[in-house]
Amino acid sequence: MNKEALNGLFRPKGVAVIGASNKAGKIGYSVVEALKNGKYEGDIFPINPKEPEIQGLKAYTSVLELKGKIDLAVVTVPAHLVLGALEQCGEAGVKGVSVITSGFGEVGDHETENKLVETCRKYGMRLLGPNIIGSLSNSDKLNASFAPVLPLPGNGALISQSGALLIALDAGTYLRGVGFDKLFSLGNMADVDFADIIEWLEDDPATRCTALYIEGLKDGRRFMEVCKNSKKPVIALKSGVSAHGAAAAASHTGSLAGAAKVYGSAFEQAGVIQATDLDNLFDVTQAFELQPPMEGDNLVIVTNGGGVGVLATDSAEKFGVPLQFLPKEMQEEMKHYMPEFGSAKNPVDITGGAGLEGYKKCIAFGLQHEWTDGMAVLYCETAVTNPQEIAEGIYGAIEEAGEEILAHKPITVSFVGGERCATAMRWLSDHGIPAYDDPARAISAIAALRQYARLQAAKAADSADTFEVDREKALSIINAARADGRDALTEVEAKQVFKAYGLDATTTLLARTEDEAVELAHQAGYPVVMKIVSPDILHKSDAGGVKVNVKDDDMVREWFRKIMENAKNYKADANIHGIAIQEMAPLGTEIILGSINDAAFGPTVMFGLGGIFVEVLKDVTFRVAPVSKAQGMKMQEEIRAAKILAGARGEAPRDREAMAETIAKYSQMIWDLRDEVKESDANPVMLYEQGKGLKVVDARIILKKK
Ligand code: ACO
Repeated sequence: MNKEALNGLFRPKGVAVIGASNKAGKIGYSVVEALKNGKYEGDIFPINPKEPEIQGLKAYTSVLELKGKIDLAVVTVPAHLVLGALEQCGEAGVKGVSVITSGFGEVGDHETENKLVETCRKYGMRLLGPNIIGSLSNSDKLNASFAPVLPLPGNGALISQSGALLIALDAGTYLRGVGFDKLFSLGNMADVDFADIIEWLEDDPATRCTALYIEGLKDGRRFMEVCKNSKKPVIALKSGVSAHGAAAAASHTGSLAGAAKVYGSAFEQAGVIQATDLDNLFDVTQAFELQPPMEGDNLVIVTNGGGVGVLATDSAEKFGVPLQFLPKEMQEEMKHYMPEFGSAKNPVDITGGAGLEGYKKCIAFGLQHEWTDGMAVLYCETAVTNPQEIAEGIYGAIEEAGEEILAHKPITVSFVGGERCATAMRWLSDHGIPAYDDPARAISAIAALRQYARLQAAKAADSADTFEVDREKALSIINAARADGRDALTEVEAKQVFKAYGLDATTTLLARTEDEAVELAHQAGYPVVMKIVSPDILHKSDAGGVKVNVKDDDMVREWFRKIMENAKNYKADANIHGIAIQEMAPLGTEIILGSINDAAFGPTVMFGLGGIFVEVLKDVTFRVAPVSKAQGMKMQEEIRAAKILAGARGEAPRDREAMAETIAKYSQMIWDLRDEVKESDANPVMLYEQGKGLKVVDARIILKKK
């Protein structure tokens, strides 16, 4: 990262507007107006070839007149003039350019867009955009955009790929009461992308967390790396998660992947909190702006209404923080603060009659108790209570807990009611307590604070495993297939590659003649499986090319002839390598492992149960490769059929340790061979009971075309 150039772009000492205008309604007018209205404290230099003055400021015909005085140039001239403008910026010593102009990569003109980037590189400038609204910063009093106002102040940053959405959300900060210090529009991301800004924000004292609106990442790996290393929470809303993209994918794994699952997994691996929609993005960001992460699972809910308490309980389970009953002695103490008919179990229901005192005492006691990791306070407007008084009482009780406790025990609030509640909630948010009009929102926000702490802990505990592998051998098998003019390995070859990575694949030997088949069957050990080996016959069973449970020499001979005949009938000109003689693995729980090369994240591993689980239920999970054994364990826990692996209905648990190691080795293989392998799978893998390991029964590797 060229930090100085990014400082120039986002914290400039002087700003030029190239294409500044005196005509209201033009973008070049709005940018100058926004800079002035935002009370930017540095110099504003309007650039216009005809006007001596723009909106009361002295105008210049070119940035060349201002060498060394400009850090940031905001470009608002038509597309065909942008390249020339950037050349001049380079010569004038500009550090960063923010190109608002549309009409480049997004309409197919990648060539000109690349030239913009080349020009910036030549001069060491950074380029934001093109096709953006610009960037905004409250702490720098910098509205370098055509959005009319700086956002409501807050201590988060928001980075959006969509410019139109960013303008709308900027205005929305006032309505929602959720403030931001900085807003960034990314547009085509020809140069500066999410990762650059997240990295830059690490050292920004005004930013506590970063919210993202993502349409698609160009370099998913770098994004993950930067987010993994970030000490500040990152919350992402990803759009475009429909099945459309997946439908185009050719392979099985590809069609199961889809953007949603791969992005979801990548976010989790990188410790990024995923928002579900715009409201949730704001809710969660507000929680991170105002509250610390939640370090344990013990959530206390205090409510004056049974209904909202039950709704919150449902939400707690839904968002991954299932409620526990309070310890007995906590319940006993809480009981003193509520009427006889209240409940101290959790939710702590002080009931509608309890009033302010009940809230204050339960909150103060609950927060101070060591059992408590976080608290959600719910309130239903009643005839006998005043929402503002309740809000102030809640705030006072929270304050009583003291800084030390509040530094690691988060609190969210929900008020359900009318306008008085809305006003009281805004008061609470202004005093650092995130407040929402629905208990589900308060719970999902605090659950995100819990998830963040969990992901941080998982990141810290995770370490890459290293295995003994024979990469050279794998490459020699791949190269031999390429020399043969093929981009798909045969099963025999694929299994050799798998074995080179320490994967336990069934012994599979290639017989070219009947006699050889008998000899190899002895080597593999009866019973054996016989399969046609031909790069021209991918669906072996359809071609009558598979026979299982072949028990003796006579059967081997008989089926050698039959399979050969079937194959020729299926495809007369098929190139037949021979027949694979394979040890017959006992039946086990069928697993599918697969890999794809995701456009944004590269090699990605898929795990799931085979058969109906994958075909019908699509019960699979993904990770960006490579992954550790610990991640391999986690993948087994997160599929819906996890209980089958744990040993459902009296069955012995499966050998999940062996499976985790296989996932890790397989992921290592697809990562190491990423320049060669387009996609691969192990389908099925027979997984046996604990201690008995597994067998990769079938393996497939498709090479990248070179
Ligand atoms: N240097 C400086 N100024 C120049 C130069 C030059 N070399 N050449 C011309 N200008 C001046 C023009 O004279 C004009 O000033 P004037 O009003 O005094 O005549 C000014 O620059 C602007 O040029 P115009 O030709 O009037 O261009 P216009 O303002 O119509 O359009 C714009 C330019 C806004 C960049 C347009 O091409 C464009 O890309 N619009 C879309 C931008 C956008 O929406 N981006 C965000 C996308 S995200 C979202 O959806 C919100």
